[in-house]
Amino acid sequence: MTKNEIVNYLNAGQDEELFDRAAKVKTQTVGAKVYLRALIELSNVCACDCLYCGLRKSNDKVVRYTLDNQQIEESIKYAIENKYGSVVIQSGEVISQKFTEQIEKIVTQTQNLSNGKLAVTLSCGQQSEQTYRRWFDKGASRYLLRIETSSRELFKKIHPPNIKFDNRIEALQTLQKIGFQTGSGVMIGLPNQTIENLADDLLWLRKIDVDMCGMGPYIPHQQTPLYGKQRAFDQNQTVVLTLRMIALLRILMPDINIAATTALATLDPIARAKAIQVGANVIMPNVTPPNQRSYYNLYDNKATDLDVSQFEIAYNEQGTSQRYQAKCELNHPQK
Ligand code: 5AD
Repeated sequence: MTKNEIVNYLNAGQDEELFDRAAKVKTQTVGAKVYLRALIELSNVCACDCLYCGLRKSNDKVVRYTLDNQQIEESIKYAIENKYGSVVIQSGEVISQKFTEQIEKIVTQTQNLSNGKLAVTLSCGQQSEQTYRRWFDKGASRYLLRIETSSRELFKKIHPPNIKFDNRIEALQTLQKIGFQTGSGVMIGLPNQTIENLADDLLWLRKIDVDMCGMGPYIPHQQTPLYGKQRAFDQNQTVVLTLRMIALLRILMPDINIAATTALATLDPIARAKAIQVGANVIMPNVTPPNQRSYYNLYDNKATDLDVSQFEIAYNEQGTSQRYQAKCELNHPQK
C-alpha cells in the first residue's frame, strides 16, 4: 500500500472496504483469538514532564504511589488464576539503581510464581542498554515503548526539551538488538497532528519493524499544558481514525500483535470490540489492585472495567508475536 492509498483510506471513509479487507487479513494470519495481557500499574512516579500526560512530574495534584510487594504478588496471582498468558509491568519513567533492581525482582517474582508460564512484558520507559539487558537476562521478554508520534516536529511540540526523538528511536533499536519482542505505538488526534502524520506513523511502524503495537486516541488531561489546545479531530472522528489506523496496520503488518487500547475504550466502549473485528488481537485488562487504580490517570475518565465474554479469548497462552517468531526462525533455523 502506498502512502497515498493510506491517506485516502484515512480521509475518505471507505470503511466498509477497508474493514473487510483488514478482517480477512486478520483471519488468514493471526486468526480470531484474542490474547490477554494483565496490566499491572506498578507506580505513577515519573521523572518526565510530557505535555500530554497526567502523570507528568510537574503535576503536583497526583497522589503518587508505588505498589508494595504484597500488592504486586496479589496482581500476579490474579493474572495466573484468571488464566492470563502474560503480564505487563507498567510504570512512570524512573532511572535509578533502586528502580532497576525493583524491576529485576518483579521479573523473577513473576517467573517463580507462575513457573515460567507468564511472559513478562515491561513498559518502564527509556532506559540504558545495560538496564534493558539486566531485565532481559532476568527473563523479561517483551518491551513496550511508544514513539507517540513519528513526526519529529510534532514530537518536539508535545515533549520537554530533554526528551529527544532520536534517543527514543535508539532505545527501540537497542531493545530489538537485545532480543526483546518490541512494541511501539502512537497517539491519535494530538493537537496539530495531520492525516499525513498518521499515514507516516503507520509506515514508520513498518520501517522500524515492530513486533507489537498499541495505538490509541489522545485524551486531554486537565492538569497538563496540552489541555485546551485544539485537538486535530473531534472525538468521534478520533475514534473512527483509530479504527482505520488499526485496520491499515493489520494490512501493512499482518503478523504482528495489535492491542485494542484502554484509551479507545474510554472514548467509546463499543469501539474496543470493533477494533478486534478489524485487526486488533490483544486486550490488556487492568489487574492493579482496585484501590490504587484511580491514581494512575494518564488522561481523564480512564476506563477501568472490561467484559471479556464477547471475545474468543486464548486463555493460558503467551501469544508471542508471529512476526517476532518468524524473525527468530530466520536467525536460528530449526531442522
Ligand atoms: N491520552 C492518551 N494517551 C496518553 N498516554 C499518556 N498520556 C495520554 C493522554 N493524555 C499514553 C502514552 C504513553 C502511554 C503509557 O500512555 O502514549 O506512552
